[in-house]
Amino acid sequence: GEQIIVKDFADKLRKNPNEIIMKLIQMGIMAAINQEIDFEAANKIALEYEIEIHKKEEERVEEVDVYIAKDEAKDLRSRPPVVTVMGHVDHGKTSLLDAIRKTKVTEREAGGITQHIGASEVEIDKKKIVFLDTPGHEAFTAMRARGAKVTDIAILVVAADDGVMPQTIEAINHAKAAKVPVIVAINKIDKPGANPDRVKQELADHGMIIEEYGGEVIAVPVSALKGENIDNLLEMILLVAEMEELKANPNREAIGVVIEAKLDKGRGPVATVLIQNGTLRVGDSVVVGNTSGRVRAMINDKSRNVSVAKPSTAIEITGLSEVPDAGDQLLAVDDDRTARDIVANRINRIKEAQLKASQKISLDALYQQM
Ligand code: GTP
Ligand code: MG
Repeated sequence: GEQIIVKDFADKLRKNPNEIIMKLIQMGIMAAINQEIDFEAANKIALEYEIEIHKKEEERVEEVDVYIAKDEAKDLRSRPPVVTVMGHVDHGKTSLLDAIRKTKVTEREAGGITQHIGASEVEIDKKKIVFLDTPGHEAFTAMRARGAKVTDIAILVVAADDGVMPQTIEAINHAKAAKVPVIVAINKIDKPGANPDRVKQELADHGMIIEEYGGEVIAVPVSALKGENIDNLLEMILLVAEMEELKANPNREAIGVVIEAKLDKGRGPVATVLIQNGTLRVGDSVVVGNTSGRVRAMINDKSRNVSVAKPSTAIEITGLSEVPDAGDQLLAVDDDRTARDIVANRINRIKEAQLKASQKISLDALYQQM
């Protein structure tokens, strides 16, 4: 059964441990302050103080909360790369993504209207690449702080007429810290003032030695505006992805990460989720950060309803009871009850931590007054 140390139990009841030990002796239980007593004994004592105590949530739930099964090598399959675009303000990140979509998406799709869900997929020679549109520096930092590795490859956009700027350096440091391979897109080569060589030199000054200079960093000169050399950039992405040997197990419960989330008037909480491992299906029960739900619908980057999302797929999901945070992890679980229990546990833990913090503050304040 469940055990609790006498001292912890006394602390919880806010009683003197000696008082608890005396009561235990009266019950015929000899226990020192650092010894454990079982739930039944603790419950009897608590009742004397007219305090209700509960067993922890079922152990099953505690387990699921932290338990993510490791995949065996034989279950792993190749998965598409997930790519984010970073760089200094106005260097052409959005234009580059637009150019990529234009060359690869619109030419195929009737009407050519692609609704943004914070992610887009392109296909080259039957190979898929997933681009995350949103993670700018802040989102990237927030996700990294939560230990969420969302991207496999970073595209660093540097305007050839402006060169390496503060946010370029920031992006380099982010990528280094996250150990993500970087491909440099030297953009705006169509501009009269463009000087790609200067960019290469400045990159070298910051430890990014490109291939031409004897280093390992791939740099591709492009013009997002003119759509120049975009195919070449895409090829390089696939090349780097191949070297990374990206794999996942499609035959397991889904694990993903929230890219962005909002409250939609009609649809309720809506979250764009990148599936990193496993397969998510409509109807699956999920835990997402401190909320849960059952996947009601999934919409892909082409605004189509889908019922299945495999690894390295970004989809917008509805059916959560609240709006999660960017960087929250999604985990598919057995059933709604399990999902709700896990969330209840997490919220309890947060409340306990907050209570502890506030008690500490009031104690500190008390000492200051003394
Ligand atoms: P933020 O999101 O504000 O950080 O900017 P961004 O990096 O997304 O840059 P954006 O794509 O908005 O481009 C900024 C400006 O540069 C726009 O006026 C673009 O039209 C222009 N621009 C982008 N790429 C090119 C290019 O290849 N050539 C030229 N001449 N202009 C470009
Ligand atoms: Mg932009």
